[in-house]
Amino acid sequence: MQAFLTIAVRAARKAGDYVIRESDKIRSVQSKSQNDYVTNVDQAAESLIIDTISHSYPNHAFLGEESGKTGDGDYQWIIDPIDGTTNFIRKVPHWAISIACQYKGKTEVGVVYDPIREELFTAVKGRGAQFNGKRIRVSNTNGLEHALLATGFPFRNKQKLMEYMQVFSKLFPHCADMRRAGSAALDLAYVAAGRIDGFWEFGLNEWDTATGALLVKEAGGMVSDISGNPNYASSDSILAANPKAFKTMLQLINQKE
Ligand code: IPD
Ligand code: CA
Ligand code: CA
Repeated sequence: MQAFLTIAVRAARKAGDYVIRESDKIRSVQSKSQNDYVTNVDQAAESLIIDTISHSYPNHAFLGEESGKTGDGDYQWIIDPIDGTTNFIRKVPHWAISIACQYKGKTEVGVVYDPIREELFTAVKGRGAQFNGKRIRVSNTNGLEHALLATGFPFRNKQKLMEYMQVFSKLFPHCADMRRAGSAALDLAYVAAGRIDGFWEFGLNEWDTATGALLVKEAGGMVSDISGNPNYASSDSILAANPKAFKTMLQLINQKE
C-alpha cells in the first residue's frame, strides 16, 4: 500500500502545482446543475491525476468527479481534482485535491492536498494518518461545550433546507461555534488533525468523502451518517468527529423533540 500512497502523493502534488499555475487563467466555467460548477482547470487536473496513476497502474479503474467511471476491477481510484470549486472560481484560497484508492470497495489509501498552504494529509488503512509526514490524532474535546464544528450547506438542493436546519438547531446551541469553509475534503482532514472536533453535511458524493473518512478513522475518529449508520457512503449524510463529540452529536441529532 505504501507504493499506492507514493503515487497518490505524486499525482496530488502535480495536480496542485498545475491548478495553482492555472488559477489566474480559468477559461471556462460551466454549470453542471444548480450551483454546481466545473472549470477547464478541474477537468485538466483530473486528467493529469488519472494519467499519472495509470502510468504506474494501467489496469486500475477510476471514478473521477469530472470524467465519471472508467475501467473495471478490484482496484479503483476515487478522485476529486478540486474540492471547493466555488472557492477556487471566486479566488477564496480554500480548496484541495482528494485522491483515494479502494480495493474491493474499501478505501486503503488516501491523500488530501492543499497546495496553497502546502498541507498534505495522508492515510493508509491500519497504519494511521499523517500531516506533512507527522502522525495526527483527532481532538480530545469532551462533549460539545468547547467544540468547534464544521458543516456544509445544502446549496445544490435547497429542498433539504428544513431538514438541514433541524439538525443545525439541535447542534448549534451546544457547541462553541460552527464553520462553513467550502471544502468537505478539508473539513474531514481538519477533523483528523484535531483542528475541528466534528463535521456533518448532507448530499456529498464518494469523491468528496472517500479520503477524508479514512483520514478521520485512521486518526482515531468515528464516521457514520447522521443516524449513526456506519455505511455513510450509501446514505445521504455524513457525520465525522472525535469519539466523544461523535457520541454527543448523534445523541443530540437523534433526540426526539
Ligand atoms: C463541494 C465541497 C463543498 C461541499 C459540497 C461539495 P466541489 O465539492 O466539498 O464544501 O459543501 O457539497 O460538493 O463541488 O467543490 O468538488
Ligand atoms: Ca467535492
Ligand atoms: Ca470537485
